[in-house]
Amino acid sequence: MFDTLSRQPDDALLALIGLYKRDERPNKVDLGVGVYRDEEGRTPVFRAVKAAERILLESQDSKAYIGLEGDTLYLDRLWRLVAGTAAGRVAAAGVQTPGGSGALRLAGDLLVRAGARRILVGLPTWPNHVGIFAAAGLEVVSHPFFDTASQSVLFDRMIEALERAQPGDVALLHGSCHNPTGAALSDEQWAAVAAVLERRGVTPLIDLAYQGFGRGVEEDAAGLRAVVTAVPEALVAVSSSKSFGLYRERTGAIFAVAATEAAADLARSNLMGLARTSYSMPPDHGAAVVRTILGDEALTRDWLDELNGMRARIQGLRRALAAGLRGAWPALAAVEGQEGMFSLLPLTEAEVLKLRSEHAIYMPTSGRINIAGLKTAEAGDVIAKFAALR
Ligand code: LMR
Repeated sequence: MFDTLSRQPDDALLALIGLYKRDERPNKVDLGVGVYRDEEGRTPVFRAVKAAERILLESQDSKAYIGLEGDTLYLDRLWRLVAGTAAGRVAAAGVQTPGGSGALRLAGDLLVRAGARRILVGLPTWPNHVGIFAAAGLEVVSHPFFDTASQSVLFDRMIEALERAQPGDVALLHGSCHNPTGAALSDEQWAAVAAVLERRGVTPLIDLAYQGFGRGVEEDAAGLRAVVTAVPEALVAVSSSKSFGLYRERTGAIFAVAATEAAADLARSNLMGLARTSYSMPPDHGAAVVRTILGDEALTRDWLDELNGMRARIQGLRRALAAGLRGAWPALAAVEGQEGMFSLLPLTEAEVLKLRSEHAIYMPTSGRINIAGLKTAEAGDVIAKFAALR
């Protein structure tokens, strides 16, 4: 059978990891896949994660199955981190998933089972969003969200698309640190989005993958909290990959917010059933680490300190990028005020490939850069190479 299959294109983002690894030039720069890097180019294990792992090494006395729902303490503590005081005001049910991608897929499967047909997606977005929702059987209906040349959110277009939606449609929202643009909505814009979702009967699916990398752990969840308290039903896909640096541990969760506890419980029961016929149970380790950190005040403080330091490093690089690029592209002054690891540069595919072949600077052909991939010492040099394209 297998020889009848057609070859699939490599995932463009993940393929960059291999291309970068094989490049032997010593001054190569990786602005590709979205992982945090420090000044030495390393993706560190958080101090608090190491401490939690030491605790788990000593205290864990079994590797028996945990169950379809996953680690319920992880789910409770993570939901409080995400929803804040809104956690006490809405009915919600969570299921632990293999990373944020697992949460998005389970959300898609649940929505299809519940009768949803279409998901509205603002472009550009993380390319795998489209793949995941299409694989789950949803029709992906796109609308413009961001203009790269002017670096501005096309908010009117977004609202228009939501106004045109039909009751029962789903709308994908990025909770914070928009991937790939870094563009943020203001509090007023979040309130306007929440109001139109509620009025049109559209269910939000909010992807929160970078909490803490934008303006702060609380600030980055403010829009999400405004939405989930305004609408009767919502789904929130959370990734612990970046916020806790647990990338390869595949740690995440899907939360269903419902009008009643009974409806939330139904959502949970279906999410668990969908997980059972997919991967059965999620991996344990990352969730155990997060549960341990969030259950301990000192570890939580240390985790936050380190996360805040990462954010400050990225903000410093954003300032340098904005100052260095605004001469060539005045609109790129906006990079300073954008959030999270990514910004989207107005580069052509040919320019991206030229940077790769001539200067060993790696980024996807969309022009997205992972700002955390820059080292302060070499940032000036890289910025000059961008500016020289104009
Ligand atoms: C990214 O956008 O680079 C990350 O979310 C990693 C991934 O899985 O694509």
